Order: sequence, then structure tokens, then C-alpha cells
Amino acid sequence: MPVTDQEHKLAIDGGTPVRTTPLPWELPGAHWIGEEERELVDRVLRSQSPFRFYGIDPQYMVETLEREWCETYGHKHALAVSSGTAALSIALSALEVGPGDEVLVAGYMWVSCISAIVRAGAIPRLVDIDDTFCMDVKDLESKISSRSRAILLVHMSGAPGHVTEIAEIARKHGLGLIEDCAQAAGGSQNGTPVGRFGDIATFSFQMNKNMTSGDGGMIVCKDDELFRRIVAMHDLGYARNEAGRFDPSDETCQFWGIGARMSDLTGAMALAQSRKLGRITGAMRRAKWRIREALSEIPEIQFRHVIDPEGDSGPFMIMSFEDADICSRFMAAVKAEGIHGPEGSLSCLPMRDWGLHWYFNIPSLTEKRSNSRDGYPWTHPDNAFASQIDYHRGLLPVCDDLHDRSGLLSIASILTDADVDDIIQAFRKVAAAYFNR
Ligand SMILES: Cc1ncc(COP(=O)(O)O)c(C=O)c1O
Repeated sequence: MPVTDQEHKLAIDGGTPVRTTPLPWELPGAHWIGEEERELVDRVLRSQSPFRFYGIDPQYMVETLEREWCETYGHKHALAVSSGTAALSIALSALEVGPGDEVLVAGYMWVSCISAIVRAGAIPRLVDIDDTFCMDVKDLESKISSRSRAILLVHMSGAPGHVTEIAEIARKHGLGLIEDCAQAAGGSQNGTPVGRFGDIATFSFQMNKNMTSGDGGMIVCKDDELFRRIVAMHDLGYARNEAGRFDPSDETCQFWGIGARMSDLTGAMALAQSRKLGRITGAMRRAKWRIREALSEIPEIQFRHVIDPEGDSGPFMIMSFEDADICSRFMAAVKAEGIHGPEGSLSCLPMRDWGLHWYFNIPSLTEKRSNSRDGYPWTHPDNAFASQIDYHRGLLPVCDDLHDRSGLLSIASILTDADVDDIIQAFRKVAAAYFNR
């Protein structure tokens, strides 16, 4: 059929959109919830035993999830917890991070990363990013000081950055390395699954993540002693005996816990989802890279550098433009072509609308807010060294620049070939109009 002028004309200018039906929601695991989840959750309900450690007839869903997680990804220890945020707090406590310490973290992350550091009483030391949208190696090295205690390395938007180099730097300087894999579950780099590079790694099973149990998370590590601390701290601060009851008698394992256990109901759902994780990430990866390859002919769009596309878990496609103005106009025009999810979804947007992922968008950081009346931890005498740090925009030039001129497309886990074709067609149509191609 001949292409009409109306079809050439951008939808944002009154032309016919490429599609009118919304794309699916960008909630990777949610679409896959089915009989398997129902069966395992039902089993817990039927047994009247939703607590993981003991009960009338425990089903040990959480324990099975942890065991299978270790088997699938090659971790020595895994502990399921109530959220990715709790996992981060526990990881920092396990490494004994506190006042007087700095934790190095990239300026593109999620608010939970900063919140865990501040709640530990430590100071976030922000590091710039590079074209991987993860921590920049050179900037990291320049910011390591005698105050540095740990690196919190966040594998943003589905794929790790320079994780091998950063693990080497951590080792060289004797720093703890926590990998935050909340956004990259099921991902890997050059054959090594995420979570195997650092001392401790954390995951989230919240609704927007690659697999979901509504809320939930996981902590993995290889060191036995560290894991003993992690287990005690996620609970009430003590070990449990074989019968699942507290054993406070061991003086080497008496801490303050945060009550972040995973219930067996959540465990049942997470277990069913974890068995689908490879298929979910495989579907997103294939769709995303088909789009990227088709659009590689458009030099005005610079795609995020993904070091190992085979290990990309695939939930987001990030692209940068020459400047902020063309970025905003381009993303709005693509969206107008019908490339968006249902009302309320965040599937196609300039990254300046990506909220609490950017350091200067976090008011509790820029204003150094406290949960207590005394201004802790900013006012703690051991943190006086950090009193001059200003977290407002301007601290990290690459972060600031990429924030302004980058756009993000969520890749739903159930895109059909026709959906992918529409996405490609919409990008090409807008590129033809805006870049005279
Ligand atoms: C990078 C990152 N870290 C931590 C979290 C916190 O996870 P949760 O929402 O399970 O507390 C999230 C998700 O929201 C995240 O994206």
C-alpha cells in the first residue's frame, strides 16, 4: 500500500499514529503470574503455615527459593528478605558500616541506596557515571579516601557496567563491595551472573523488577561468617536453632535485627517466579536487542553502552541525543505514535522524568534530612569531615548531562513481534522527520 502524507506526518503534529492500542505494562514478572504461583501459594494456605521457620505443617518455600537461587546462579549462600531496601541496610550493617565511614555510590541509582547508607549512619560519597549508566571507574578511583569503607555498585536498568574493574579496585583498596542487583536479576556479564562479583549482593522482587512477589528481596554472599551476621540481622539479631527458635546464647551472634524476614506466602510466589526468570529476561533481551539493532542505522541516537549484550536482563532501552531539547521532543513524538503503556505506566519518557533515580532529585539528600531530632547522621561528630558536601545538581557532570539528554523505553516482557515492529516503525518515522533521513 502506498504511504500517504497523513502517515508520514507525525502523530504529534496531527498525523496518524503508528498504533492506537497501548503496549503492555512494564511490570516484567507480573504478566507471568499464573497457575504455578497459585499452586505454591495455595499449598502454603492449605498447610496453614505462612511462617518460614516453623508452624503446623511448614512447606519451606523460602528455603527452597534460597536453595534453587544458589544452584541456578552459583552463589554459596542466599537469604530471602522482605525487600531490596531492607537487603541493602542489612548488607551495610553486616559490613559494619557506620558513622565516620563513606560509602561510594553512583549518582544514578535508586533512593533506597542512599537511604540505606544514611540509615547506617554513614556518608554517601557520590561517584559519576559513564556511558554504561553505571559507576565511572576513573571517578571512583579519584574519590577513594581514608574514609571509604565500601562501594555500593548498582547494576542500573538491567545490566552491569565495569563490574570486573570495580571489583578489582575494591580488592586493591580493601573496601567492601556490595552489588545492588535489584534492577538486573537474571543478568550476567561474560558468563558470570550478577551478584558473584562482590562480597555481598542484594536483589529486589518488588513489582517493577524482573521477577516479582509483590515485595521481597534476596541477599547473597560467599563468606560463612558474613552470612551468619546477615541471617541474624535480617531477623531479630540472633541465630535460630534447628527447630527455628531463637538461640541468643552465642555471644558472637548478638546484634540488632530489623525484622525483614520473608514469609512463606511471599516465598511461594517468589519461588514460582524465580523458575520463570530466565524466560522473562530472555523475552525482554530479545525484543530490546531487535529494536536496538534495527535502529543502529540512526547515528543521532546513541545507545547506552552495554558491555555484554548476552548478559543484559533487558527491561530498559536507554538512548541519548545531542541535547535536552531534541531528547524531549523526540521522546514525546515517539510516545504520540502510540509507543506507551496503559494510563499511568512509565514506559516512554525523557530520563529527566525518572524521579528518585537521580541524586539531585532526592530532597532528603540535597537537604540532608534526618529521621531523628538531632539531625543524625549528618550531625554526628565522626561525620564532621563531610559537612561541606553539597549534593545539589552540579556535583557530577556526566550524570547531569546524561540526565538532560537521555530517554528511556521500558521493554515489556510480553511484547509480540508486531509490538516490536511498531516500536521500530515509530522510532524510524520520528527520526525521518527530525533528522531529515
Ligand atoms: C537499584 C535499586 N535498589 C534498591 C531497590 C529497592 O528495592 P525494594 O523496592 O524492594 O525495597 C530498588 C527498587 O525499587 C532499586 O531499583
